[in-house]
Amino acid sequence: MRTNTMVALLFALFFSIGSADVLAEGIVLQNAENREGFVLDGLWNVRLAPFRGGNGKGMSKPMKPGAKDESFVDRLAVPGDWNTQAEKLYYYEGSVFYKRNFKWKKNSAKRYILHFGAANYEAEVFLNGNTIGTHKGGFTPFDFEVTDELLNGDNTLVVKVTNQRKKESIPTIRFDWWNYGGLTRSVKLVEVGETFISDYSVALDQNDKRMISGWTQLDGKYQGKEVTVEIPELKIKKSVTVSDNGKAEFIVKPKRLELWSPETPKLYTVRLTVGDDKVEDKIGFRSIETKNGDILLNGKKVFLRGINLHEEAPMGGGRLTTAEECRTLLGWAKELGCNFVRLAHYPHSEMMVREAERMGLMVWAEIPVYWKIDFENETAYANAEQMLVEMVQRDRNRASVILWSVANETRESEARQRFLGNLLKKTKELDPVRLTTAALEAFKEVDGVRVIDDPLGDLVDVLGVNCYCGWYFRKPTECPELGWEIKFDKPVIFSEFGAGALQGHYGDKSEKWTEEYQEEVYRQNIGMIKEQMPFLDGMTPWILVDFRSPIRPNRVIQNDYNRKGLLSEKGVRKKAFYVLQKFYQELEEKAFGKGKVQ
Ligand code: GCU
Repeated sequence: MRTNTMVALLFALFFSIGSADVLAEGIVLQNAENREGFVLDGLWNVRLAPFRGGNGKGMSKPMKPGAKDESFVDRLAVPGDWNTQAEKLYYYEGSVFYKRNFKWKKNSAKRYILHFGAANYEAEVFLNGNTIGTHKGGFTPFDFEVTDELLNGDNTLVVKVTNQRKKESIPTIRFDWWNYGGLTRSVKLVEVGETFISDYSVALDQNDKRMISGWTQLDGKYQGKEVTVEIPELKIKKSVTVSDNGKAEFIVKPKRLELWSPETPKLYTVRLTVGDDKVEDKIGFRSIETKNGDILLNGKKVFLRGINLHEEAPMGGGRLTTAEECRTLLGWAKELGCNFVRLAHYPHSEMMVREAERMGLMVWAEIPVYWKIDFENETAYANAEQMLVEMVQRDRNRASVILWSVANETRESEARQRFLGNLLKKTKELDPVRLTTAALEAFKEVDGVRVIDDPLGDLVDVLGVNCYCGWYFRKPTECPELGWEIKFDKPVIFSEFGAGALQGHYGDKSEKWTEEYQEEVYRQNIGMIKEQMPFLDGMTPWILVDFRSPIRPNRVIQNDYNRKGLLSEKGVRKKAFYVLQKFYQELEEKAFGKGKVQ
């Protein structure tokens, strides 16, 4: 943290003159990717630290020009997981020191922020021999001000990344996806003005949907400053004076406004300026709410034709790293006939959320409070809440995101109800408008009827229900007669069902792992949906693409892959893909809702 900022902070604290507010460590710099700066992506030198020894302080002294540093002999691409970049790192769980030398010409009128898109799981940052800070959480961005530590000329940045699973981490020790370690998203040195816009929110006003409202949060010497809000296409330009806490609120009435929707994913350029600092974003305006047990998008009932996605590069890659890869995956979802995606089970990259918005896909976003979290553990709660805050702060301006999910398949208990209840309360504090949800298990069956009475249903806006009829229980043909009883008058999304199949493995539909079996499970579950689940407001079968998982070791069929994808990891469609696609085409033609199937 900047020394004179520390002084200013103390000054501000004791004399509350508010003359200089600062970027508190861990607050995300909103929309970093569209700000001036220097992207540090590319090949970094690395040094493995299996025993996780030492820190990067000593190793981050600027190198004398031409000096050789033998200990950093390997190289890894950033962004990228290390597991798929080197055979010896495939299962690696430990620490890796990343090092990047770079030259910089400092501008004394500017401030400098190191922005990380994500690092899985824990990052310790060192710049030019200074300890900068640490971050825990593998899927959300983090920032550190480095104005004082950045040098004119040669700089050496070292980041120690550790992906060791821990009981109190989020996710905890056991989960059904690959533990990709590393600097998995971009790293950028962002240059901002002495006083800059650190955060903002711009959206349709939820009290008057004819208006656009929002706020900007300044950092620096903001007393008396004016922020200008522009939406050129709507001929809006408004200046607002900053209040004592550095915040400037505004509300404007556009003469006309094209609302964002999957059918018309309209985005407007929004430009925010304070002094010489400017940030530009593309924002869609829409409303999302529940009413009488329905989900309404822009005031109209909507059925969410969805699919689950993990964030894995197509064609068998590791953690995806490019917008192009996002477009490939989301293109497959669109080809299925989706208007919705569940980005399971952790915050996907900002690129994925922005591409979904551009392509017209609504999003279920989620933090990995997954399976056997220790709900009594305060550190686990703090880790979960921090990741939630960082996810909501990063994506609050994305029209595509309509649901925040706080959990997946967690067992009922007093402690779990408290833990998730607090997360849901925090979510509403951060974002009173979007809908909250969680994916519940549907294990309870009474006389052939699955009963959903999980007390968490009292706390969420929308229920997610996971149930693998025809795969984990019953035969596929016994699914259409499976009854359902939902004990809540709230919207319900069938958030997981499906079956595994090895692409290209054909046989009788009674033989598990054949494409024909998976196809039959989809047919029979769709039969169940039509006959037994007219209450549904959406569905996201599990899952679009086969994905890596260390708990799928069967060397013949799985080979470290969970095979429930509708496409193989090589992007080859399985037969079940076409069953779901046909159903979604039917749904697009007919209104599908509570008993309204024509
Ligand atoms: C669970 C879980 C998924 C998992 C899936 C499966 O429902 O939510 O993360 O991959 O089942 O068993 O394949």
